[in-house]
Amino acid sequence: MNYTAIYFSPTGTSEKSVVSITRELAEKAERRDFRRVDLTTYPAKETKVKFFENDFVVFGTPVYGGRIPKVAAQRLGNISGKQTPCIVTVTYGNRDYDDALLELADLVKSNGFVVQAAAALVGQHTFGEIQVGRPNASDEKEDQQFAKNFLKALKKIPCKGNAKLPIKGNRPYVEGGNGGTFHPHTDDTCTKCGLCVKNCPVGAIASDCRTINSELCISCFRCIRYCPSQSKNMDDANYIKFAKEFSQKLSVRRENEYFLPQK
Ligand SMILES: Cc1cc2nc3c(=O)[nH]c(=O)nc-3n(C[C@H](O)[C@H](O)[C@H](O)COP(=O)(O)O)c2cc1C
Ligand code: SF4
Ligand code: SF4
Repeated sequence: MNYTAIYFSPTGTSEKSVVSITRELAEKAERRDFRRVDLTTYPAKETKVKFFENDFVVFGTPVYGGRIPKVAAQRLGNISGKQTPCIVTVTYGNRDYDDALLELADLVKSNGFVVQAAAALVGQHTFGEIQVGRPNASDEKEDQQFAKNFLKALKKIPCKGNAKLPIKGNRPYVEGGNGGTFHPHTDDTCTKCGLCVKNCPVGAIASDCRTINSELCISCFRCIRYCPSQSKNMDDANYIKFAKEFSQKLSVRRENEYFLPQK
């Protein structure tokens, strides 16, 4: 079996969990390494990969408005399987994942994958100060334990087709998957290093490193998180007020949920 982690992850939380799970599976199978397919950056819109029966893929995306981001769904459309077993995961910012996990499972199934397990995981929210630092070391342990439990479950219930998984959600899915309305500002400390231009998932930052196309920007805040000189920010009164209230509203911690094959 060859193991691959595939993710769209602007601020790195989905990536972290997908990698923990994939690494654990590969180690248990005594594989020295696993492959990563990062669908986050703009050039990844052209990435096309085919998988086969001897592959195993772990997918991960964030939740945007209760759905998987539309841009991630488009890029995942270029990833096909041939009865390829997989695990699907979504990472959400402590509000809810609504129909996102169901949507991701449906999407990869329609592209030739067989879904054997799933997880809805909590990560630090893009906006405000919500579950800061998650997934943390204890979430990572839970992810690793999930991978171990999955392998144990497979021994008891060897599943060839899609596993019976109690994933919540409804079809048609809730309206969502769009970006937000917050677009970062750039202050005078910008060194024009170009990192934000290169890393923006949707190519929304012009070559002056400052002008953001608000039609394209999905408010993922990747440019804020990755700027080495903290020159990109959301220092405006509207956002600061929203972030404070939103952080209070979502202050009660939610737990990761893992779905294993059932009889
Ligand atoms: C536009 C947008 C919409 C979001 N919608 C939700 C949501 O519906 N529910 C939720 O719990 N978190 C929501 N989040 C938070 C992200 O799902 C969360 O921060 C996730 O960990 C980000 O993943 P990443 O680090 O892989 O980019 C949203 C974030 C953004 C930017
Ligand atoms: S990453 Fe930061 S410093 Fe570099 S160009 Fe972008 S805003 Fe400027
Ligand atoms: S410009 Fe918008 S879409 Fe691009 S990285 Fe920044 S927040 Fe994300």
